[in-house]
Amino acid sequence: MRKPDYPDADPKRWSKVDSYFSDLLCADDATLIESLERNAQSGLPAHDVSATQGQMLAIYAKMVGAKRVLEIGTLGGYSTIRLARALPDDGVVVTIEANADYADVARTNLNLAGVEGKVDLRVGKALDVLQSLDGPFDLIFIDADKPNNPHYLAHAIRLARPRAVIIGDNVVRGGKVIDATSEDANVQGVRSFLELIAEEPRLTATSIQTVGEKGWDGFVLAFVNR
Ligand code: DHB
Ligand code: MG
Repeated sequence: MRKPDYPDADPKRWSKVDSYFSDLLCADDATLIESLERNAQSGLPAHDVSATQGQMLAIYAKMVGAKRVLEIGTLGGYSTIRLARALPDDGVVVTIEANADYADVARTNLNLAGVEGKVDLRVGKALDVLQSLDGPFDLIFIDADKPNNPHYLAHAIRLARPRAVIIGDNVVRGGKVIDATSEDANVQGVRSFLELIAEEPRLTATSIQTVGEKGWDGFVLAFVNR
């Protein structure tokens, strides 16, 4: 394959370049900074999307004219705030969090951000909550426990409107995704998820690898054809 004439990537510069882009284009405001600090102080895993990634989600929401967004995996609500801000006043993010302690942190952050009126936070196991939901949703962000990703995909397809977008986080996992014999349940969950997406005629999909402050990871991006 022909390659552009760039010097080889330097992993140590990934974070600096991420900071350059996020400071320039989509910096966290005081509310988002405070939310991330609260998440860290509350012992939540550092699994929030980055600023550049959060802005990417917001732009997809705007591109599809989203009014109804479904997020599977709230964590502390960082991406929820980014998504809610991208919606019109009558928009809603339905976001699901299995861990009640994480949900409490998220609720504080959503209130601080003033987006609580646009967010419907459901506390419970995602598979249980999803059973009770009706569509249509314009954008669905899958970012919870990876072994259940195949089940989350089935719900996402059921709940998505035609021409919706489905985004899955963490599909690269530092490159581990290509290890078919991996004993890591997260890797296998992601691989099954990707294979189901690949064979699903209702979806047109691609993947976006990302490097930056979150290391080497990436998204799967699927468009719902019908
Ligand atoms: C993991 C999960 C995430 O959602 C994330 O963004 C990063 C890592 C994990 O389970 O390892
Ligand atoms: Mg994630």
